[in-house]
Amino acid sequence: MSLPKTHEQLEREKQIVAQAALGWVRTGMTVGLGTGTTARYFIGFLGEQVHRGTLQVTAVASSRDSEEAARQAGLTLTEPRRGLRLDVTIDGADEIAPDLSLIKGGGGALLREKVLAQAARYFLVIGDSSKRVQRLGAFPLPVEVIPFAAPWVLDRLQSLGAPDPAVRMERPGEPYLTDQRNYIIDCHFGVIENPAALGARLKEIPGVVEHGLFLPGAIPDRAEAALVCTGVDIMVLRPGVPAAGLSYLQD
Ligand code: 5RP
Repeated sequence: MSLPKTHEQLEREKQIVAQAALGWVRTGMTVGLGTGTTARYFIGFLGEQVHRGTLQVTAVASSRDSEEAARQAGLTLTEPRRGLRLDVTIDGADEIAPDLSLIKGGGGALLREKVLAQAARYFLVIGDSSKRVQRLGAFPLPVEVIPFAAPWVLDRLQSLGAPDPAVRMERPGEPYLTDQRNYIIDCHFGVIENPAALGARLKEIPGVVEHGLFLPGAIPDRAEAALVCTGVDIMVLRPGVPAAGLSYLQD
């Protein structure tokens, strides 16, 4: 059995996949920017390319954090507007299953992340090796709810099989607020046998704004591809296709 990776090793893996994701970006593209540490590395690398003049892009950010990171990186940002299709959205994930269904929202930005995933022609997920799972559910599933409904949503989540749903806290006595000023409820469902059925049940609960399951479907928010660093290589994962290695060059 291999030893768990150190924080430093996982950070390095995030940097490697974030750098590799630049290969999915071309000049003239409009790029959706995810949220989280991996997405932040990508934003930094993208900014370096723009600064060097090797890429010219416009970006839409999935959170205030990413907007700030993009500004610092010198990226040109645009706002959502009717008819706008993003060429690619590049984002991290908390769990990546073999069919590229995902759990996202560890960073609290799942709502706008899902909007940008669906607004994109191509959704690319990037992650370190710890994100790859056989089945979703070890990572607590985040559910975004309007604060008023939170007590009843907690009851409903419990009856759906999450024994201890908990409002995410910023600090004791102060719930974490999303960019939409909603709450996040983190749920331990255990192994999620049927993510589509659970996702549908969650969306039926009044007060639930969105959940962190990103899934194939009529309007898929599952990724087209995922880049996962194994420590020595990058695996390119696509649904229904055997994983392939991507050799990478380090600066
Ligand atoms: C934020 C997310 C992130 O993409 C997810 O939590 C992964 O974060 P990190 O890259 O820091 O591991 O969904 O809402």
